[in-house]
Amino acid sequence: MRIDKLLANVGYGSRKEVKGLLKSGAVKVDEEVVKDPKTQVNPDEQEVTVHGEIVSYKEFIYLMMNKPQGVISATEDLQQKTVVDLLELEDAVYEPFPVGRLDKDTEGFLLLTNDGQLSHKLLSPKKHVPKTYFARINAPVTGEDVEAFKQGVILDDGYMTKPAKLTVLSSGDRSEIELTITEGKFHQVKRMFESVGKKVTYLKRISMGPLQLDDRLELGEYRELTEEEIELLQSYTPTDI
Ligand code: URA
Repeated sequence: MRIDKLLANVGYGSRKEVKGLLKSGAVKVDEEVVKDPKTQVNPDEQEVTVHGEIVSYKEFIYLMMNKPQGVISATEDLQQKTVVDLLELEDAVYEPFPVGRLDKDTEGFLLLTNDGQLSHKLLSPKKHVPKTYFARINAPVTGEDVEAFKQGVILDDGYMTKPAKLTVLSSGDRSEIELTITEGKFHQVKRMFESVGKKVTYLKRISMGPLQLDDRLELGEYRELTEEEIELLQSYTPTDI
């Protein structure tokens, strides 16, 4: 790729600003000063430095975030804080976007990437990627609910949900459950509980496909996926829940 594009992509300024940087002689490729913005470089094989500092370039970025409440799963918004606002500049320059959405008041596992192909694969309704949520419910959750969710429930707009796996962790006036669904309808978990006359009072996503939320991540923190995790996602084929 062109050196000016690479440097602009990793945050050294606009293409015009990068041109100035190149002209000043600050940029070297394999120890040689490069001034021509059109110079082709292969970041996997060549070492690019700016003022002697190595530029690390990757095409794709994959981040696992423990989304806190109060931020929206979007890349930009005029009024509200977004998950992208929580990223360090060095990660934001790769322009990652959230893979699917969590509600503003939902916490937990959110994948952010700039890999459109992977995102498409994970979100495709045909692929049925399972997502597991932990939730608190304002009423006892019964075996009947487990059975109803297994069969599919009818949401307020008439949509019949696909089979979902409900596990009751504790049942009482404030129940705790885990629910695995393979779809991503708007407010799906909340609406599934509404369909059986109950209310979700707290919601957190704890896994998506083959990946679990890293419990070392505090709310609002994120980390890059490991090579193994990226591989797991890329080769993932969902099986029935
Ligand atoms: N279901 C919901 O109701 N909300 C979410 O954020 C995710 C799934």
